[in-house]
Order: sequence, then structure tokens, then C-alpha cells
Amino acid sequence: MASCSTFNLSPSPKPTKPLPHSLLKPLIQEPETESRTQIQTPYPKLIITGPSKLSGHVPISGSKNSALPILAATLCCSGTSKIHNVPNLFDTRTMASVLASLGAKVEVFNNEMLVNTDGVDSVEPNSDEIRKIRGGFFVIGPLVARFGEAVVALPGGCNIGTRPVDLYIRGLQALGAVVDLRDGKVQAYAANGRGLVGGSFQLDYPSVGATETLMMAACMADGMTVLSNVAREPEVVDLARFLNDSGACVEGAGSNQLVIKGKPLLHGSECVIAADRIEAGTFMLAAAITRSCISISPVIPCQMSCLIHKLSAAGCKIRQYSHDTLEVSAVSRCGGENLQSFEVKTGPYPGFPTDLQPQIMALLTTCNGLSPVEESVFDKRMGHVSELLKLGAKIQVCASTALVFGKDNGSVLSGSSLVANDIRGGMSLVLAGLAAEGTTDISGVAHIDRGYENLDMKLHSLGADVKRLMPLAS
Ligand code: EPZ
Repeated sequence: MASCSTFNLSPSPKPTKPLPHSLLKPLIQEPETESRTQIQTPYPKLIITGPSKLSGHVPISGSKNSALPILAATLCCSGTSKIHNVPNLFDTRTMASVLASLGAKVEVFNNEMLVNTDGVDSVEPNSDEIRKIRGGFFVIGPLVARFGEAVVALPGGCNIGTRPVDLYIRGLQALGAVVDLRDGKVQAYAANGRGLVGGSFQLDYPSVGATETLMMAACMADGMTVLSNVAREPEVVDLARFLNDSGACVEGAGSNQLVIKGKPLLHGSECVIAADRIEAGTFMLAAAITRSCISISPVIPCQMSCLIHKLSAAGCKIRQYSHDTLEVSAVSRCGGENLQSFEVKTGPYPGFPTDLQPQIMALLTTCNGLSPVEESVFDKRMGHVSELLKLGAKIQVCASTALVFGKDNGSVLSGSSLVANDIRGGMSLVLAGLAAEGTTDISGVAHIDRGYENLDMKLHSLGADVKRLMPLAS
């Protein structure tokens, strides 16, 4: 955990800007828009022919959910920040557009982004960009902390529940912001007309995004801030590391309490986005559901312990080859043919990650026995069940728990036409398609592309029969 060290930062004056006219002018009437990420059609389909056997090694990309808050955090920093190993995804490209819409200079080279915020001349990011993803909303923290005001549209993101922003709003209020929600936009400004002030706030729920947003805001609040019941996810720790490398003083990242000493302004720094633990877990599940043996790297094994425990109990063999390489084997000679059912209950880190719930449910349809899967983080993250049923899975959903009947209880997967409706639910369908007998076509692939870089290339390199079918030009 990064500790605070004394920085010889000469306290540069907070960039005082007159409260922009946006506070004065009535907010323009925004057309009511569905605030869920909507994917433009026509978009390619994935055509998967199963059952697949996988083999070889798959490289894991940088973490989407680390990259998004760190890109937002560049707004806390003067000068240029250099971010390496940024996954080339719809979401990270959208975040780059959000920053550019504020006047930042953003240069993108494949998996590297350079962000210079000295030219930021607005506190109101492009609403259409904000509504495309969840992570763009995080900029509200740095904006109101650095410029004294922010006007940000309510976010988009996966359609997996209500996904309110009340904790963001109440947390900013605890730091001295006046916050209004009008015409689908959150408008926040520093009550004292200059900037935020340190305070204390206990989150009702360890929200990842709220934790990250309030951490960024507190880094530039005047005085000390204590945030309690915060999220402990690795992505929160990654953000704190970037902020501390940029001159902040954040203590406690990875625990349930953050103590933050505000600074006038941070400076640009360089960082490498860590490997995506959710992508890593997804490929581990791909090995299990196809009864294959593959290796993955880079991965941080200690972040995967929940999943490693479940897969080992089911009958998979998991070996750590080096500090950042895991091998997952479920081949029949290792007894992998008959994986045993197990129960799953998602929860905040270090609990079982909700972002692997749809994917592990696909695996459970191929195991022996009955598996209860309880989704305790989001109130509507079962959209993939209806699609899995089209493949022949036997699943019953009651409230937030799904009962998965394994192959010895009638779940026999055979190809069908499916529709992906969110990132991880869509990935669940891909995994099931790899195991199903025959051809599965999946539309809504744009949802999956939001969270998985070069997915079909990676699956193809492991031996899967996966094609991306481009739509006929209309
Ligand atoms: C982040 O979303 C991730 N997204 C999600 O990943 C991930 O599933 C989630 O954390 C949980 O780990 C990004 O980091 C961009 P939350 P976030 O706030 O921050 C409630 C993916 O597939 N809540 O921790 O939006 C909320 O309703 C995506 O990569 C409030 O009540 O998640 C939910 O029930 C999907 N009030 C719970 O907290 C608030 O103000 C967890 O949400 C905020 C959240």
C-alpha cells in the first residue's frame, strides 16, 4: 500500500476560474434519452462452432476498470500524464473523448494515452459521450475539486440494475459541494466559491465508482478527508497508486477506510495499467467450460483467489508457473470431464466478483449437480439467463438467485441464435457457445467489445472456431 511521503511541491495556486456561465444560464433542455449504453446497429455477429477444445497461452490486456478512473484522474494533474497498457476498447476511447470535450489534449497510440490537461476550458463534458459508458461520470470529482464546478450528465453503462449516483452526490456534499440534479445532469459547485474542503463520509455501500470519484475529489480538497466503508477492489488500489505518484496523499487503499490529505494541484505522472483480472477470470472459465488446458499471463494470482478456490473445488487443476502466469486444466485425464457443481454468491472485493457471475453460470450448466448462484451486488444482473436457456440450459431464477441444473439434470447445450445485452452477460454466451454442440451466433457483440480487447483473435489463437461476421453494407 502506498504510504504518504513528503512532496516538495511548491503549492501552486489553485487555478481559480470564475464560476462558468453554466451556473447562471438555465441548463438546456436535454432530450430524454435512455441512459443505458445503446449500441448502434448493424454491428458484426460472432459465429462460434462448438464444442471447442482450447490449448496454448493467452495474453491478458490492461484492466478496463483500472484505466477508466486513472484517465479521469489525469484531470487532477497539471501537465502531461502518460498511461501505458490501456486496453483499446470502446470504453477507453470514449473516456478519451470525454477528456477531449473538456479541452484536454489526448494523444492515443495503440495501448498508450498521453493526456495534457493544461488546456481544459470547460467543466461540462459532452453529454452524449458521458451517456455511452459508466466510467465517464467519474470526472465529476476531479472537475469540481480543481475548477470549483462540474456539470455532468447521468451516466450510461451496462443495463444490470438501477445504478444510482446518490453516494457520489452525498459524498461531494460532505466535501463542501452544492449538488443539484436537473434535466438529467448533475451540477456540483464548491459552496465557498473556491474549492472543496476536507470532510468525512461513510458510504452506505462500498461502491467502486463512488469510492474512486470521492478519492479523486478529496485529493484536491483543502484539508483532511476520511472516507469509510469504501470499496477495496484492486482497481481502487491502482487509482490510489497513480494519484500518490502524481503528488497526492492517499492512505488506506485496499482497506475499508481512506485517509486523504488534500493538495492544491497534482502533477502529471506515468503509469502502467495492471492486467485485467476479469478478463483473466473469463479465460480461466473458458478453459474449464471447454474441458481444456490453457495458460494465461500476465495475471495477479492473489486477485483471483475466489475463482481459483471455486474451480479447484469443482475439479480443475490450477498451477502457478511464475509470479504472473497461471495454467488452468480441466482435461478429462485430470478428471476435468466431470466437474462438480458449487454455489456462488457475489459480493464486494475480496468476495466473488459480480463481473464473473454470468460467465461462471455458463460453466455451471456443464457441471454435475445443482448450483445456486446469488447476485448480491446488482439488482438486475440475470439478463444472460434467458439467452442461456435458448442453448438448452436448465436454470430457474427466483429474485436475485439462479438455480443452475447441471448436465446430469438435463442441461445439454446446443447451438442457437443469441443476443448479448451487456459486457459480461455477452461473454457468458460466448463461453456457452464454445461448449455447445453446433453453431451459435451472437449479436450485440458491441457490448462485449466494450470490455474485451481482440476477443475473437485471442479465442482463435487458442484453437476456438470463432468468426466475426461483418453485416452486409446496408
Ligand atoms: C464498477 O461499477 C465497475 N465498472 C463494474 O464493472 C463492476 O461490476 C462494479 O464496479 C462492481 O464491482 C467500472 O469500474 C467502470 P458500484 P460501479 O458503484 O462503480 C450501488 C463491467 O462489466 N450504488 O460498485 O458502477 C449500485 O446500485 C462493469 O466491467 C448505489 O446504490 O459499481 C450497485 O448495486 C459492470 N449508489 C452497487 O452499489 C451509488 O451512488 C455496486 O455498484 C453507486 C452505487
